[in-house]
Parts: sequence; C-alpha cells; structure tokens
Amino acid sequence: MSSSRASLYVLLLTVIVSTVSELQMKTVTPDRGTTLNISTTQVKGCKVCTVAGGSRKCTTSLLLKDNKRVQVEFDCSRPQDVFSVEVVQNIECTTKSCSSHIIQAESGSLPLLDFARRFTWNLKASALKAFKIDFTSVGLRQINASERCPDRHSYTIHALQSSGDVAVGTYCRTGPISSAQILNRGSFAVEVPAGQKLQNGQFHVSVGEEIKSLAKITLTLPKGTSSAELLSPNYPGSFPDDDVMEWYFQVPDKQKATVELLNLTQPLCRKKDTEVVYQSRGGPSSGLRLTDTQPQREGNFTLTLRNCEMDRSRAGSPGLSLNLRVSTSSQVSCKVDVSKMEGLSLHIEKRRSASDCELRVNSASRERITVTSNSELTFQDCLPEDLQVTATRVIECRQLKDCSKTPVRLSVPLLPPCLPAPLSSVTWTLRPPEHSTVELTSPAGNLKQCLPGQRCNDSFIIKMTEDDGTTVGRFCPHGVIQKVQIHTNVSVSVSGTLGGKAPPVLYARMKGEITERYIFSVSPKRDAPALLASPGWPEGMKSYSTVSWIVTVPQKMEARLMFANLSQPKCGNRHTNIRVQRVGRLEEDYSRREDEMPEEEITVSESFYLNMSNCMPERGEFSVITKITLQKSINRLLTIILSVVASLLVIFIIVLVVVCVVIRKKKKKLSHQVSIYNPNGTSFLPGQNGFPETREDNDEHEYASIEDTLVYTHLLRKGKEIGVYGDFDTYQPFTGRMDSQKPLVSKDSIADDRQASKQPFAISSQQAPPLPIRPLSHDQQLVDNVIYQAEGQSEEERSPSLGPRLEPEGGN
Ligand SMILES: *[C@@H]1O[C@H](CO)[C@@H](O)[C@H](O)[C@H]1NC(C)=O
Ligand SMILES: *[C@@H]1O[C@H](CO)[C@@H](O)[C@H](O)[C@H]1NC(C)=O
Ligand SMILES: *[C@@H]1O[C@H](CO)[C@@H](O)[C@H](O)[C@H]1NC(C)=O
Ligand SMILES: *[C@@H]1O[C@H](CO)[C@@H](O)[C@H](O)[C@H]1NC(C)=O
Ligand SMILES: *[C@@H]1O[C@H](CO)[C@@H](O)[C@H](O)[C@H]1NC(C)=O
Ligand SMILES: *[C@@H]1O[C@H](CO)[C@@H](O)[C@H](O)[C@H]1NC(C)=O
Ligand SMILES: *[C@@H]1O[C@H](CO)[C@@H](O)[C@H](O)[C@H]1NC(C)=O
Ligand SMILES: *[C@@H]1O[C@H](CO)[C@@H](O)[C@H](O)[C@H]1NC(C)=O
Repeated sequence: MSSSRASLYVLLLTVIVSTVSELQMKTVTPDRGTTLNISTTQVKGCKVCTVAGGSRKCTTSLLLKDNKRVQVEFDCSRPQDVFSVEVVQNIECTTKSCSSHIIQAESGSLPLLDFARRFTWNLKASALKAFKIDFTSVGLRQINASERCPDRHSYTIHALQSSGDVAVGTYCRTGPISSAQILNRGSFAVEVPAGQKLQNGQFHVSVGEEIKSLAKITLTLPKGTSSAELLSPNYPGSFPDDDVMEWYFQVPDKQKATVELLNLTQPLCRKKDTEVVYQSRGGPSSGLRLTDTQPQREGNFTLTLRNCEMDRSRAGSPGLSLNLRVSTSSQVSCKVDVSKMEGLSLHIEKRRSASDCELRVNSASRERITVTSNSELTFQDCLPEDLQVTATRVIECRQLKDCSKTPVRLSVPLLPPCLPAPLSSVTWTLRPPEHSTVELTSPAGNLKQCLPGQRCNDSFIIKMTEDDGTTVGRFCPHGVIQKVQIHTNVSVSVSGTLGGKAPPVLYARMKGEITERYIFSVSPKRDAPALLASPGWPEGMKSYSTVSWIVTVPQKMEARLMFANLSQPKCGNRHTNIRVQRVGRLEEDYSRREDEMPEEEITVSESFYLNMSNCMPERGEFSVITKITLQKSINRLLTIILSVVASLLVIFIIVLVVVCVVIRKKKKKLSHQVSIYNPNGTSFLPGQNGFPETREDNDEHEYASIEDTLVYTHLLRKGKEIGVYGDFDTYQPFTGRMDSQKPLVSKDSIADDRQASKQPFAISSQQAPPLPIRPLSHDQQLVDNVIYQAEGQSEEERSPSLGPRLEPEGGN
C-alpha cells in the first residue's frame, strides 16, 4: 500500500471505500461512548482484519471502541453477506435522570452502510425502578419476530432479568404503543438491513415507575375503530416462568375496548395459576382465567398477565404464549329486551344537543328514544354524561275491587349493560280510582324522611310527588315510617345509583278512602330521634290539606315531640291546626292554631295521632318538622313515687298533729311552731301566713281541677338549653326579640309578628319560664280549646302547660 494513498485517507477523515484488488478496506471511527462489533457467525471463510503499524490481525469478530479511528480490511470480496455490525451504547439512570437519550444516528458506522446493522442501547435503572422509553413521537406496533416492517427498521426490546434475557417484543414504527418501561435492566435495539440508511430519530429515556412486573407497555388507542395486537414475551416461545407483564391501555373517551386472547397455549402448572388481571386507576382489580371470555372495558385500564410456576419436567409441556387483541369501537349496539323491564318504558335522551353523541333506533337518528318494545339501539360517540336514561310506568286502576287485593311491586328493572349510561331514575305514576288511597310500604324495612341537604346511606332516594308537582316528601330506606297513605294521584320516583335491585323498592296498594290527605304510620325507635316533615317541606302544605302521623309508642315509653322550624301563615280563611290525640281517646291532648303560641315540647305516653291541617293562607305558609324522641316514661314513675311520698307526708302530718295535740294537752303553757318541708326550698309556716303569693319566687301553680289526661300528658313550656336541638344540621339560636321577655308589648302586635313569619325555636334558658302571650283577639271558643287552662290568673299570667310539675326545676 502506498503512503500517498494512506494520506488521502487521512484527509478524507471519515469514509472511503477502496477497491484495492479484491479486498474491502474501510476506516471506521466509533462515536464517543459507543462500541462497534463487526462479527460473523461463520467460523471459516471471510475474516475481518485490522492494520496497525504495518502488522495485520484477522479474526471472526472485531470490537472497536471509543472514538478511535481504525482501518478495517476484510479478506473477501463481499463481507456484507457474512458480517454484521452492532453499535452498542450504554445509558444509565440514577433515581432522577438518565445519562442520555436514545439518539438514532448513523455517524460512526456510516462506512459500514452496506452491512446489516443493529444499534443497541443497554439501559440500566437504579434498583427496583424501571427505565422508560417514550415512543409518542412515532408510536410502535408489535409484530411477531418472523415478520418484517415496511420501512425495514425493526425495533426490539429485551428485559434482562436475574433469570435471564426476556424478549419483550419486536416492533415496527407507527402504532399505538406510546412507551415501554423495563424493570431495572434491559436493552432497546433497532435493526436495519444492509444498504438501508438508519432514519434519524430520538426516543426520550427517563426514570420510570416502580413496576411490579418485568415490563409495562403503554398503548394509547386512537379515537375511532382500531385494533392492536400484542404478543406475550418470548413469543412464540414461553412467557418466563412465574413472571408478570403489564400493558396499560389508554382508551379514548366514549369508547370501549374489547380484549381477546388468541392462539393461547397454556403451560402445565406446578404452583399458582396463570391469570389475567384487569384494573382501572383507583378501581378494584378483577382476575380472570385465560380461557374466560375477556371483558369490554371503558376508560384507561391495566391488563396484567401472570404466569404460574410451570412444570417443564414433562416432555411436550408447551409453556405460556398468547396473542392479545385489543379493539376499540366508538359505536355501541345494544338490544333492549322489554320483558326484563318490569312493565316500564325506557326513555333515553341526549342531555346536550351539542354533544357528538348520536342515538339511533333501527338506524334512524334520534334526539330521544322511548323504548316500549324489543329494540336494537346504536350509540355513536356517547359518553355516560351525554345521555339520560330513565324509566316510567303508569299504574292505573279504575275499580278498587280490581286492584286492592295484590300489591304492585315497584322494582328497578335490570337493563342491558351495553347501554352507555346508567339508569338515573325510575318513576311510577299511581292513579287510584276515585275516592281511594295509594298505600306505600317498603319491603326492605321502613322509610326515613330525608330532609333537604341530607343524603341517604343507600345509594338511592325515593321521592313522592303529586300530580301538580308538589313534593309529598323525600325518603331513604331504613327508617321509622312504616306506611305512607296518600289520598290522591301520586308519582313515586327513585333516583341515584340504581343497580337492578332484587327486592322491590316499594309495594304500592290501592285502598279505600282515608280521612286525611296524607297519613304516615310511624314507629319511632329508642336510639334515634325521628324527624318528620310536613308534606311539601321545605315548602308549606297545600291550602286546606290535612296530614296525620299515627305514632306507635311502645309500652313503658313516652314520646317527646318538638316542633322545629315551625312556620305559620296568616290565614285568610279557617285556621291551621296542630293536634295530638292519643289513639282510642275521645278528647284531644293538645291543639294549637296559627294564632296561638305553640309549645316547644310535648310528652305523650301512649300511641297517638299527630294531626295537622292547613288554612287558606293569605300570606306565608304552614310547615313544620316534628322531632319525636322516645324515652322511658319517667313521669309515670315519678307520679307513683311522689304520690307515695305525699301519702307518707300526710301520715307524718297526722302523726305530728296527734303528737302536738297530746303535747298541748300535757303542756298547755308551751306553744309550738311547726315548719313544713317544701321541696322548692322555701320554708313557710302554716297558719295565717298561708302560701307565698309572688309567682316570681315560687313556681307552684294551682288548678281548679286536674283532668285525667294531665296525669300522663305534660305540656312542658320550659325554655330548653340550645344543646337539646343539636341534632339538627345547623342550629341558629334565635337572636331576635323574644316575646316572653317583653310581656308588656301590645298583644295585637305580637300576634301580628308571629303570623306569617318563620319561627325558629324561640328558646329561653332563663330561670323564669317564658310566659306565653295570648292575643286578645281570640274568641272565647278558642280559649276553651286550650285544654290546660288555669283559673284564677290574669290573661298575661295564664300558662298553657300547667301539668303537675313533676320534673325537677331545670331538668328535662
Ligand atoms: C460481538 O458480536 C458477536 C456476535 O454477535 C458476539 O458473539 C460477541 O460476543 C460480540 N462481542 C462483544 C465484545 O460484545
Ligand atoms: C407471524 O406472522 C406471520 C404473518 O402474519 C404469520 O404468517 C406467522 O404464522 C406468524 N408466526 C407466528 C409464530 O405466529
Ligand atoms: C396463530 O398461530 C398460527 C400458527 O401458529 C398462525 O398461523 C396464526 O397467524 C396465529 N394467529 C394469530 C392471530 O397470530
Ligand atoms: C386516560 O389517559 C389519558 C392519558 O393519560 C388521559 O388524558 C385520559 O383522561 C384518561 N382517561 C380517563 C377516562 O381517565
Ligand atoms: C348511615 O349509616 C351509618 C352506619 O350504619 C349510621 O351511623 C348513620 O346514621 C346513617 N346515616 C343515615 C343518614 O342514615
Ligand atoms: C288522577 O289522575 C287521573 C288521570 O289523569 C285524573 O282523571 C284524576 O282526576 C286525578 N285525580 C286527582 C284526585 O287528581
Ligand atoms: C287524627 O287523624 C286520624 C287519622 O289518622 C283520625 O282518625 C283522628 O280522628 C284525627 N284526630 C283528630 C283530633 O283530628
Ligand atoms: C331550621 O331553620 C333554620 C333557619 O331557617 C335552618 O338553618 C335549619 O337548617 C332548619 N332546620 C331544619 C331541620 O331544616
């Protein structure tokens, strides 16, 4: 070789292919940080030689490193037929970042363009972590190892596990795979055939997650109809023993992904089982056998493939391999079978007409659909929030004898899961015959009044509405209301999360006429107070309408009633009334009109009716929440104890008198004064002094007579500590003027104030009990209505709740 020719090579620096005799001679300079391996698998024949300092060394594989320029010769004319070139670069990641990215460029290997080349990046993450290669710029798709890519660039990913090398997969450019994470160590390579120039490109490398699998491949499925094929690692060989692989699918909005496992070969397992596990972020995971039908999924999800501990000892044990196909479609077809609908008709409508969602019935496009017969529906690009699915049924009865016998089950129907949106409400419209009643009971226990702002523990809420849209009430399952009777047409709707519930939500029965517009049968429980709202709450009751609660009070118990948030109207005609009457008694125990001062608390010791009726309001409205609390009937006990004490006292006095008389007879000159014990703490002397006269000092009251009812029913008028009402969501103490504090204000103006105004509890916690004010405008009939009327008092002083004061002062 001449020296002039050699200097020309130096001038050109990089590449010159010479054709000296039949030898191939190249000058190769590997890039910094890369090694270049020129090798052949053929042991005999062509060799690769280096020429350095005039000496020539020939081998079957040559390793070139680190930016050193080397002259390479091959001792045959077509070395590219037997030699291949591998360019290797290492990338190391710390816990935060990686030393380099994958930069796809020919540079150092360009003189070897006519050889098949493989560019390999060995990647290493810090312990337990994965490294992540981002392919979003091009996207990859998986092929089987014997296939070829159209652009003749084929990519491979390997995971280097303690158990050995795992071929995660072979990929071509352009596809749904957007990233790969490999646990701890692995490699990424691109192969190009001889003569094919490597396309420039770059893949971002970063620190990945702490994955619990050998690799996690992320796919971003495109919008519209598409399908992606994936192969198990080492395909068609076996998935590694007792190992795990993950795929994460990002499914476009409004679309569902269908998973199929194809060409499945299952290993013989020694321990554990093969399994596919599906999980959505934050959702529960569900495991399936590989032979099960795989699900249709909505939203992003992870698919984990798990191999067992295989038994490879037996000959012919195939190992685990499979082909995974994930397809998406934005069009959903759904058959609705009306026989599963419990007699309901199904309504599907678009919530916003601007959405992309398209509904079709038998290929005709619609804005809303009512399904009454078996139908085939098609949904295109419909998200759950794009659609509202409701069900309705009208239950009409013309003759009571036709329908009073069997109750109608009001159950939530089971709808096909292919509907893109869940059922949001079911409404039954109940039309009883004239002069009859709808009776509603809950088979799953009683109902509970659900006040605005409260939520049901169960996922659904029951609302009862009259024909004109007024709400009778909203209810949750599991409460104290056993039965609701409504003397008119009523619609019952359930809304919330409605899985097809096995037991019916309610039973509806048509019954004969009732005396009130609404009757609720209530059986309060000992542990929790029952809150009962007047129909329509928080709005007022309908004009002239009546409601009755039949409250069952168990033996040896008594019910405490409190009227919370009472709002009274100014009546144009008739009066509102709140009445309490014990069941089976003729007389009323309590009765108040809108123009009378209500009690804050009443105690009733037997089962009773709580009846309310509205007037024709001129202004304002009639509404109230009654809070019923059960307690042991201490009053009855106290009555007994106190009567025993009283009898003992009488006996004691008699004895004392006898003793006195005897003493007087014996010692006529001595005179005595005897003091009597008074539980109120005031001692007084018998005789001419009599009882103290100031009511302020002494809370005793006198009665002309005590009615029988008084023994058990005490109308307590004491001011209560605010804490008593702490059960309500937010209690706002009454800060306004308290009538009881200003007994001198003109009565007319007080009556006016009270009317047509919401009255939160007027609570006084002073020592002196508030004195109720009775407007002078009352006619005498009304005054007579008040059952506990004290005599011998002025109007101002009259107390409405003059039961025997059996409770100790300040107690409750
Ligand atoms: C070079 O490549 C050959 C064939 O692939 C291989 O046997 C050899 O180990 C490689 N040499 C190095 C140092 O990687
Ligand atoms: C790989 O794919 C090709 C083409 O689709 C097919 O002919 C071949 O059978 C596949 N090989 C395996 C092992 O599945
Ligand atoms: C299943 O395997 C057969 C033969 O192994 C192959 O021809 C076929 O292409 C495979 N199917 C898929 C979907 O890869
Ligand atoms: C799925 O993942 C993509 C990308 O992270 C995200 O934009 C999309 O909101 C996710 N979809 C759902 C339903 O969470
Ligand atoms: C919900 O259930 C819990 C536990 O069973 C109970 O303590 C709570 O009072 C319930 N709340 C309602 C609103 O029913
Ligand atoms: C109940 O509904 C039926 C049918 O709409 C109607 O004829 C009837 O008058 C309604 N009854 C009441 C009490 O509103
Ligand atoms: C209260 O209503 C019931 C029906 O629930 C009725 O039987 C009773 O007579 C009514 N009592 C009063 C005092 O209105
Ligand atoms: C009663 O009324 C007050 C004030 O209007 C309100 O804050 C409170 O929530 C009401 N209580 C109930 C049980 O509705």
